[in-house]
Amino acid sequence: MPDTAPQGLRRLAFGGDYNPEQWPESVWQEDVQLMREAGVTMVSVGIFSWALLEPEPGAHDFGWLDRVLDLLHEHGIRADLATPTVAPPAWFYRAHPEALPVSREGVRLAFGSRGAICHSSAAYREAAARITTALARRYAGHPALAMWHVHNEYGVPVSACYCDNCARHFRRWLADRYRTVDAVNEAWGTAFWGQRYSSLEQIDPPRLTPTVGNPAQQLDYRRFADATMRENFVSERDILHRLAPGVPVTTNFMTALSQCDSVDYWAWGRDVDLVSNDHYLITDGRRTHVNLAMAADLTRSVAGGAPWLLLEHSTSGVNWQPRNPAKRPGEMARNSLAHVARGSEGAMFFQWRQSRRGAEKFHSSMLPHAGTDSRIWREVVRLGADIDALAALRGTRTVPDAAMLWDWQSWWAQTLEWRPSADHDARERADSFYETLYDRHLTVDFAHPEADLSAYPLVVAPALYLTTQDAGANLRRYVENGGTLVVSYFSGIVDEHDAVHPGAYPGALRDVLGLTVEEWSPLGAAETVALTDASGARLTADVWTEFVVPHGAETVWSYADGPAEGRPAVTRHRLGRGTAWYVSSRLDPAALDTVLGAACEDADLPPRGELPHDVEVVRRAGDGGDFLFAVNHTAHDTKVPLETSGTELLTGEHTAGQLTVPAGGVRVVRLDR
Ligand code: GLA
Ligand code: ZN
Repeated sequence: MPDTAPQGLRRLAFGGDYNPEQWPESVWQEDVQLMREAGVTMVSVGIFSWALLEPEPGAHDFGWLDRVLDLLHEHGIRADLATPTVAPPAWFYRAHPEALPVSREGVRLAFGSRGAICHSSAAYREAAARITTALARRYAGHPALAMWHVHNEYGVPVSACYCDNCARHFRRWLADRYRTVDAVNEAWGTAFWGQRYSSLEQIDPPRLTPTVGNPAQQLDYRRFADATMRENFVSERDILHRLAPGVPVTTNFMTALSQCDSVDYWAWGRDVDLVSNDHYLITDGRRTHVNLAMAADLTRSVAGGAPWLLLEHSTSGVNWQPRNPAKRPGEMARNSLAHVARGSEGAMFFQWRQSRRGAEKFHSSMLPHAGTDSRIWREVVRLGADIDALAALRGTRTVPDAAMLWDWQSWWAQTLEWRPSADHDARERADSFYETLYDRHLTVDFAHPEADLSAYPLVVAPALYLTTQDAGANLRRYVENGGTLVVSYFSGIVDEHDAVHPGAYPGALRDVLGLTVEEWSPLGAAETVALTDASGARLTADVWTEFVVPHGAETVWSYADGPAEGRPAVTRHRLGRGTAWYVSSRLDPAALDTVLGAACEDADLPPRGELPHDVEVVRRAGDGGDFLFAVNHTAHDTKVPLETSGTELLTGEHTAGQLTVPAGGVRVVRLDR
């Protein structure tokens, strides 16, 4: 059995991507000395090194990497050693131009950046297996080796290839899945628009076509592309397991980035030994720390609640957004430690030393162009000491309060064309529900709709358009057994082939919600509607309204105006020992808070009014102890009540009754039990 934690690491992981090949060897000595000064415990090496490790086909040059790994080992720094398969060398493409990916529009992409890979290419798979085998043979017993880092961020920058090789591979995938062409015809509904196939040979990837392509075909192609990348991951992983038994294998995910939605991480989470994640702040005006918390919660959930590892984030600005603000003083540590609070066993960065050349030279790093006499460096050294002080929490698990249903495949289906309203954005609803729960100081797990939900008093489903009948039955069972469920509109509509469930909407959720939806009526771009309850209170919503017909559900809020005026807007259905809420419009933040607040009462989740706004309070607990994190995102010192006394690990102070968290600061209390 491979380990699930980096081997030989006795502290939390602290470090970053280390690309020594970009620097003369004379710099390496300074690197390791400064790593020691900063408290670095592990670095990721070799991610883009294929062209150096195999300068000619089959000819290897491991000398430089031997020296790097030896040097790291001499300085007590562990190595997360990469297979460089995300960046095949130029010679490879000269020999195998067919391994370059083709876009949906039919354009073959060129060498010259990274990640130019057709995952169906046999030549690519063979070359990747050869370099992986050579690396594993050489370094399996190296004393610096802590874990394997396969590839880099599968799914970006290319999420699917549409070449002829992929077309053949897709047909084989379809044959495995459906056996016969008639089964494909049935699943894809090809009777519509005369798309019927009489042989699997006639089927192509969903390439650019005059108007909207077959939705089920598009959905299956996303599944195929994801499965093909995962096959390639698994084949590298198996080589590493065979040649380096016990050493954990990971590949860095990007769980919550909406630009990277092409990977079904539920499946991947089961295939890695250790889940790791990359997270970057998207500065689009939203609260970045909320998105960070969501990413971390999602990553932990993909890991089944087990500890995971933040493999990349940034010390300050990135360089790939239109505007890239520097992080504010203290923000880096808040980011890093918020990930740790939510289950990460450390905090790693892209990258150790800022590059002088190449596309990412303006991306921040641990050791910036400005050198060690810089704010970034001082904050990095300070964070290294803080992370060092938290070693005791290794192996403990973040304690959740509620769950949000999450399914990448349902999300894929919702991005297909020709939907009732362009203003409905599934991801926006998920973000908004998450933010409401975050502001109620609830720690949220994510769960697949078919997963066992019985541990959660509250489950929310903000955008579950694609819902299988199994998921519907699962949710029904959950509510009957005492759970509280909140479902948002346009959920439960289609099956896994994007086919509408028979009968009235929402086919998979009619029973549990105790209602049907006769018709929906999306609103105009700037239109809003008012909702009202028995007391005459008002809520505001936009984007979407529906004609809801209760069959057992009670109406809690109704539409006061708009196309569905006088009809139910928010309903509540008592079923068995539990309650299922339905929200048929896009509630604004205040309205959503009101409705989720009522659902929290049903779920016996009392409001945490004693906790200040924008102060994140999260617990990790396990054999190693019980730890309370308080992350203060505000500009004021604040106080957090403590149920028991404890020791604050970053200051060493004993605290009881109340914890003072300085403006912009973080405190971690090991609670006395
Ligand atoms: C990704 C990649 C890194 C680097 C960073 C920069 O996460 O894995 O190689 O490009 O982004 O933000
Ligand atoms: Zn291809």
